[in-house]
Amino acid sequence: MCGIIGYIGEKNCVPILINGLKRLEYRGYDSAGIGIIANGNSEIVKNKGKVSLLEHKMKDLQLYANLGIGHTRWATHGIPNEINAHPHSNLSNTLFLIHNGIIENYRVIKKELENQGYHFKSDTDSEVLVHLIDRFLTLGFDLCKSVQLALNEVVGTYGIAVIYKDEPDKIIAARKGSPLVVGLGNNENFIASDVSAILAHTKQVVYLDDGELAVISKDNFIVKNISDIEIEKEVHEISTTLEEIDKGGYSHFMLKEIMEQPESVRNSMRGRLLPEDGTAKLGGISEVVDRLVNSKRIIITACGTSWHAALVGEYMIENFAQIPTEIEYASEFRYRNPIINKDDTVLVISQSGETADTLAAMREAKSRGALVLGICNVVGSTIARESMAGVYIHAGPEIGVASTKAFTAQLVVLSLITLLIARRKNLSMAEGKKIVEALNSLPDKITDILKLNDRIEQLAEKFKDANNFLYLGRGYQFPVALEGALKLKEISYIHAEGYPAAEMKHGPIALIDENMPVVFIAPKDSAYDKVVSNIEEVRARGGRLIAIASENDNDIDRLVDDTIKIPDTVEMLRPILTSIPLQLLAYHIAVKKELNVDQPRNLAKSVTVE
Ligand code: AGP
Repeated sequence: MCGIIGYIGEKNCVPILINGLKRLEYRGYDSAGIGIIANGNSEIVKNKGKVSLLEHKMKDLQLYANLGIGHTRWATHGIPNEINAHPHSNLSNTLFLIHNGIIENYRVIKKELENQGYHFKSDTDSEVLVHLIDRFLTLGFDLCKSVQLALNEVVGTYGIAVIYKDEPDKIIAARKGSPLVVGLGNNENFIASDVSAILAHTKQVVYLDDGELAVISKDNFIVKNISDIEIEKEVHEISTTLEEIDKGGYSHFMLKEIMEQPESVRNSMRGRLLPEDGTAKLGGISEVVDRLVNSKRIIITACGTSWHAALVGEYMIENFAQIPTEIEYASEFRYRNPIINKDDTVLVISQSGETADTLAAMREAKSRGALVLGICNVVGSTIARESMAGVYIHAGPEIGVASTKAFTAQLVVLSLITLLIARRKNLSMAEGKKIVEALNSLPDKITDILKLNDRIEQLAEKFKDANNFLYLGRGYQFPVALEGALKLKEISYIHAEGYPAAEMKHGPIALIDENMPVVFIAPKDSAYDKVVSNIEEVRARGGRLIAIASENDNDIDRLVDDTIKIPDTVEMLRPILTSIPLQLLAYHIAVKKELNVDQPRNLAKSVTVE
């Protein structure tokens, strides 16, 4: 979603802002802009489309400034065009604002301001903020106070950065619901919606919390709360490196991230396995582990791919830890008055740790007294900080909009949580040891699966022109079917549906003809024989059959047109292996269709609005 970067210091901010915006491109955007203030001049340059276009414009203009803000916009109110792009400015072009989030009461405020003579240029909700701040400036308040007073009037969510020609020694930033981080340098400071934008310049950061406002100058920063009281903030050192957020020679981040999975899966369990005891230890939840083990019920809430990981988690936890488990779309959970008891545990899964619906669901669960644990990838993210305890998945930065390595790392962490609870309950040490052993052997097996890349690319060539796909699986493989279908539709724009294989005959079977590729996720597991019957049903109707099967399965070839054979593991961990060929299939189909794999249309990496 929208990205924010701001700079104040002694260098020319233009290349810093442009490079920062390029680092934010992965979040998804449709227009970009920069506002700078220098030597009594203030200038905004913006356009619909890519940051590279903005870069060309800036080169032609040869601008130099020590103070500036930049933005990538993902349209919510008003179509993507130059006028709706940020920064927005007041009428005298002296006050610039960039905004992430949604101002819900913007219509009322806009009307009031228009009655007072303010003229609006854009269709955005964001523009009301700049005029509102301007109104307080004209009443004689300074910039900081004017921003505070304006924010008191708005309902909604925001991460903002504001600069003003008459106070060129500061950036004012404020947060409610949209992440912001202050970056600290030597005689220069930064504001950003995401550390990747400023990683090239500093690793010292301060995370702003909701309701906080920062006054950032080149050699200082002050954070205040809504009541204007100064708050002491902790400075964090970020461990992410620039290499981790580069493509590293791959043509796309998505491919790099798929290929990184032997390592990311290893990292997600590093130091967390106790082979001697056949169990796991998770430092982040050690203080609440008794409460977790004794939970009467576990609710897992998430969105998208993280929700699919949650579904696999339900199978794991109910099978092994024997605690009733429910999976909830975060967007539904928050609005439907859910029954939550004090002896429930709510697991909140989010790669970014910033998804608005998931964050709101987490806050709802917390307010109702449940034990709330976060499972996040992004260190220091809001969900990671606001959950009562949690486990990082340690997948490393995931830049491609389509989640891949975060999914498999989420599954590893869910299996560790399951193992830990199950061993405290009734799983034998011998069984526990088998799972630990299987976990340890996953990275090598993933490496073997990745060697099938060329074979999967051939399959992609064969099926790239299909208009629809069905993905079918049973038991643990049903969520994998959903995830395979989501990957394909996200990046190739081919309509795809995932179903429990047996449900097919209750409706989707009507769709099957010789044009419909049907991907069966059919490893040799407890549901195998039943899945084979479902394969026969599709075969009888002429569907084009593809199977993800176990390497020792010699029977399946005669039933399907194409097979991808992969190494086997214990049932609980199979989704970690079966999902990888599906990631590669989606990737290669999208590449063959010449689509923008890393930034698919309309999608954002981190969905920070409802
Ligand atoms: C995954 O490929 C998607 N881009 C999307 O469904 C994503 O998983 C969802 O938006 C949740 O994101 P989160 O894990 O960062 O909360």
